[in-house]
Amino acid sequence: MAASDAAQLKSAREDIKEILKTTYCHPILVRLGWHDSGTYDKNIEEWPQRGGADGSLRFDPELSHGANAGLTNALKLIQPIKDKYPGITYADLFQLASATEIEEADGPKLPMKYGRVDITTPEQCPPEGRLPDVGPRIPAEHLRDVFYRMGLDDKEIVALSGAHTLGR
Ligand code: HEM
Repeated sequence: MAASDAAQLKSAREDIKEILKTTYCHPILVRLGWHDSGTYDKNIEEWPQRGGADGSLRFDPELSHGANAGLTNALKLIQPIKDKYPGITYADLFQLASATEIEEADGPKLPMKYGRVDITTPEQCPPEGRLPDVGPRIPAEHLRDVFYRMGLDDKEIVALSGAHTLGR
């Protein structure tokens, strides 16, 4: 599917704000955006093999990866919005939900760009193991392996980890 419809993105953003008023789901929406994007491997040229924010998390093979435990609840919140706005890709919707939540939680207004393309079949999901492990033997080395693969540096690892000030 091609780039998302701008008018639908605007309306969907308002719908997400409404959900945030009545449902405590702020952290899980950020985690949803992160886990869809965090499979990115800068060393792989081909799409969708290189992973990243491509809506793959909606498919069962990826949703049932150990690291994604609980994210089915985020999908349940997002699916009605996706049904209402078919002109938005899952990939964009996940990032829209995450960015909207950050703004609604008094974080910065993020200069987002939209136009992410969805994968279309579960077979295109990335293999398990691209997100960081909990409790690895050498944590710093593990985090560098994972985040450098995404093209991020030490400062960015620390900044992104600050997302854990949300939720548990
Ligand atoms: C640095 C490596 C990371 C590790 C090892 C890690 C691991 C975890 C784990 C184990 C949880 C608890 C999940 C649960 O059982 O509910 C969690 C929650 C969370 N993570 Fe991470 N994470 C990492 C990086 C990130 C990044 C980069 C972000 C976002 C930019 C993020 C956002 C969150 C949020 C918002 C929650 C709370 C979810 C909730 O309360 O529902 N994490 N993380």
